[in-house]
Amino acid sequence: MDELELIFENATRSAIFTNREVLRPDYIPDQLPHRGNEIRKVAMVMATALQGVRPSNLFIYGLTGTGKTAVAKYVLKRLSAKAERSVKRVKWIYINTRIENTSYRVLAHIAEGLGLKIPFTGLSTSEVYRRIINRLNSDSVILILVLDEIDFMVRKEGDEILYRLSRVNEDLSSSKVTIVGITNDIRFIESLDPRVKSSLGEEELVFPPYNASQLEDILSERAKLAFRPGALGDGVIPLCAALAAREHGDARRALDLLRVAGEVAEREGADVVSEDHVHRAYNELERDRAVEVISTLPLHSKIVLYTIYRSVGDTPPTTGEVYVKYRELCQRMGLEPVTQRRVSDIISELDMLGLVNATIINRGRYGKTRILLPTIQRDVVLSALENDPYISMF
Ligand SMILES: Nc1ncnc2c1ncn2[C@@H]1O[C@H](COP(=O)(O)OP(=O)(O)O)[C@@H](O)[C@H]1O
Ligand SMILES: [Mg+2]
Repeated sequence: MDELELIFENATRSAIFTNREVLRPDYIPDQLPHRGNEIRKVAMVMATALQGVRPSNLFIYGLTGTGKTAVAKYVLKRLSAKAERSVKRVKWIYINTRIENTSYRVLAHIAEGLGLKIPFTGLSTSEVYRRIINRLNSDSVILILVLDEIDFMVRKEGDEILYRLSRVNEDLSSSKVTIVGITNDIRFIESLDPRVKSSLGEEELVFPPYNASQLEDILSERAKLAFRPGALGDGVIPLCAALAAREHGDARRALDLLRVAGEVAEREGADVVSEDHVHRAYNELERDRAVEVISTLPLHSKIVLYTIYRSVGDTPPTTGEVYVKYRELCQRMGLEPVTQRRVSDIISELDMLGLVNATIINRGRYGKTRILLPTIQRDVVLSALENDPYISMF
């Protein structure tokens, strides 16, 4: 074999994975361990569609990675397969409103799901809505509309479109629409207009987080499909499960951790994934996550974070010291500083995001103050901040 052939051949064959795609977040496995109750509940609510009766609207909430999207898609796929063999017509359309993030795009997506051709722009939302109604009225179908990560759309555009969709049956004669709303934001439903809330929440279902042993089961099932036999060291799955459970039992993070650990092992030419690879994967993912969170911070939060991380290595600064340095920096940047009170709030926000650790210490007769400790490697934070065009100038 010539040298290039050898390089290409090695690239197509992995010592670690047989199929890494099954570890990706959009893969829906045939089995969803520890979600039996949730699957049954969704199925029971939706099953009336098979009798031609509109299922109640359903509102699903729970933290990220608790299987909400997977369960909804899993049940609706099975339901529509069953419906194909019965006389009743059932159709479902899945929309993630974090991706289809305007009312227009949501409606256009629904219209396209019904077989209509909609231009990318140019029509008003009312016109798209009218075409959807016409199409549904010329047909007799039960349409199940899954609106995933619904809080994104409402935060951006308000709940007008949800209000409209929750009333859509008033405009329909032969067809019926059911809405399945999904959100990771548990407080979201409280922020809705009470009329929308009561309509969407005809049925509600909360997904609890997984514990470490449940995550182990989920990972083990998936690992059988993803890895070569013997490619996983003994402690790898329990460690991934434990690390993911330490936060809030997020199956997506557990699967990411396992996948990246495999990739780290592969990159260094190892045949077996070790616990050390998991720890390195963990750091890599933390780094990516921090960079992402930092990039979306408002400018003054970035400046406060910058002030804190620039002084890492010295004694940890107090809130007051950070404020002094923050003001200096603003002055040099030609920016109006925000108040000390606001900086104090920003610090609490940064603490909540896990970007700093604000610890209260008691300084005797000087009273209590907060000192600010780094939680992430300094160079990671500083280089993420330097992506900001403003900050990079100083
Ligand atoms: N019970 C489970 N069994 C197998 N895989 C699961 C289970 N729950 C979640 N997953 C997987 O974890 C990832 C995240 O799940 P997802 O349904 O997207 O979570 P959510 O929508 O609640 O944020 C997906 O890859 C999904 O396939
Ligand atoms: Mg989801």
